[in-house]
Amino acid sequence: MSKIISMHSFRGGTGKSNLIANLAVLIALQGKRVAIIDTDLQSPGIHALFNINDNRKTLNDYLWNRISITEAAYDISDYIPNQQKGQLFLIPASINPEDIAKILSDGYNVSLLNSGFRRLIKELNLDYLFIDTHPGLSRETLLSIAISNLLIIILRPDRQDFQGTDVTVNIARQLQIKNMMMAINKTPINIDLVELQQQVEKNYNLPVSGIFPLSQEMTELGSKGIFALQHPDDSFTHLLYKFAENIIQESRLHEEILIEVNYCH
Ligand SMILES: Nc1ncnc2c1ncn2[C@@H]1O[C@H](COP(=O)(O)OP(=O)(O)O)[C@@H](O)[C@H]1O
Ligand SMILES: [Mg+2]
Repeated sequence: MSKIISMHSFRGGTGKSNLIANLAVLIALQGKRVAIIDTDLQSPGIHALFNINDNRKTLNDYLWNRISITEAAYDISDYIPNQQKGQLFLIPASINPEDIAKILSDGYNVSLLNSGFRRLIKELNLDYLFIDTHPGLSRETLLSIAISNLLIIILRPDRQDFQGTDVTVNIARQLQIKNMMMAINKTPINIDLVELQQQVEKNYNLPVSGIFPLSQEMTELGSKGIFALQHPDDSFTHLLYKFAENIIQESRLHEEILIEVNYCH
């Protein structure tokens, strides 16, 4: 059963794109078929991590009825070397200034996004579709949140992030999103991680799926690649593996609940 996993944060710069790119690679390395779609059309970025910067087809072309969604999907399985079964795709958003201006002035047809996600899952035979979202709350973001099997809300230990995340969690609850997890990024080195995790879990009444320190190596990498591949033995990479495992487990658990619910009916 395929899973749609959205990663969201109330504010920008929290590490969504970097965490999604690493998760997607680590899960594809386990032999899964994974795609990432950049729905951050106002400020796209995840293509940079995979070094995609030429004039390729993008999600924008699909939303403007120029191409099918699969024509905007790039096979980037080169990032998972020596894998027979796993595959990785990226559907980038346009970085062209005119395209971004058009999105800002005209918006786009949100319902096309939903049908695009379904088509991608079917035609690429995906196990996981990761959605990189635009920070804050907008109609488009709410749609991706609403149709996800799992929503991961990421925040930094920062009062602005805490307050904004309150808003997101409340709205997600109003949308009756059942399957939510938190992730904490950019924690200062000297902070008590256990205490922080407990505080976040208590605050939002949600589990923390991953907690990551502010990393010098990550800063130095500067989105020029996939951290877990470039630093396979770093402790940050071990945390990324654990994060991936938690997310796989959580979506499996949800699948079992769904099967039980269907069975009971
Ligand atoms: N744990 C971390 N430690 C240090 N720098 C990080 C960490 N996570 C992300 N970054 C950096 O923060 C910036 C924003 O990350 P990005 O993934 O683009 O966030 P978002 O997609 O939420 O805007 C990037 O320069 C990235 O390299
Ligand atoms: Mg981003």
